[in-house]
Amino acid sequence: MIITIDGPAGAGKSSVAREIAAALAIPHLDSGAYYRMATLACLQAGIDLDDEDAVLAHVQSSTYTRHNGHAMLNGEDVETAIRGEAVTAQVYKIAQNLAVRAFLLAPMRAELAEYGGVIDGRDGATVIAPNADLRVWLTADLTERATRRAAQMDELDNLDWHVDDLARRDAADAAQMVRHDRAIVIDTTGMAFDEVVATIIRLANTP
Ligand code: CDP
Repeated sequence: MIITIDGPAGAGKSSVAREIAAALAIPHLDSGAYYRMATLACLQAGIDLDDEDAVLAHVQSSTYTRHNGHAMLNGEDVETAIRGEAVTAQVYKIAQNLAVRAFLLAPMRAELAEYGGVIDGRDGATVIAPNADLRVWLTADLTERATRRAAQMDELDNLDWHVDDLARRDAADAAQMVRHDRAIVIDTTGMAFDEVVATIIRLANTP
């Protein structure tokens, strides 16, 4: 079974996808982790992230896998490094590189090949897995997404910054954030986490 959960940053995709994958005993494919690994690879090599050709050449020279939910760049566990500030602030540049996007499809699809999975990302339904069994578009209003992000980072006193940051990231991601026309939209504004998970599991179990 393949389930796609796409939508903007801070909508809760990754926690929801992880929980659903565990409940259905299928893998969780965190597609953002691949863009983060590619970004880290370029930062470590001192590549100018605005030089699209240099970025592509370097990205192609590395390998990307995941092991027990950890991101592995050239076989090395980089799960902590890819969540850091440097990568988070610059991953949008790599994600806008269409040749890099095309290149990273193969390792992502390899992760799905054996058991299927729950994909979270921006274009899971439209690009990564056009054959998905269930497509969900998860969203929430900007203030709610920013509040969740800020709370997660213990930065609620800095909410305005998080609102601006998410708005900036939505704009930077607009090109790849395409809702599949048959995706089921779930607006999680005001919804509890368990309710979102239960709703998607119910949909997955509906023939
Ligand atoms: O969703 P969030 O921004 O919180 O983080 P993420 O899922 O770790 O993804 C990191 C970045 O990778 C996103 O901000 C997008 O720029 C990019 N991305 C993408 O372009 N396409 C995907 N399928 C997944 C992520």
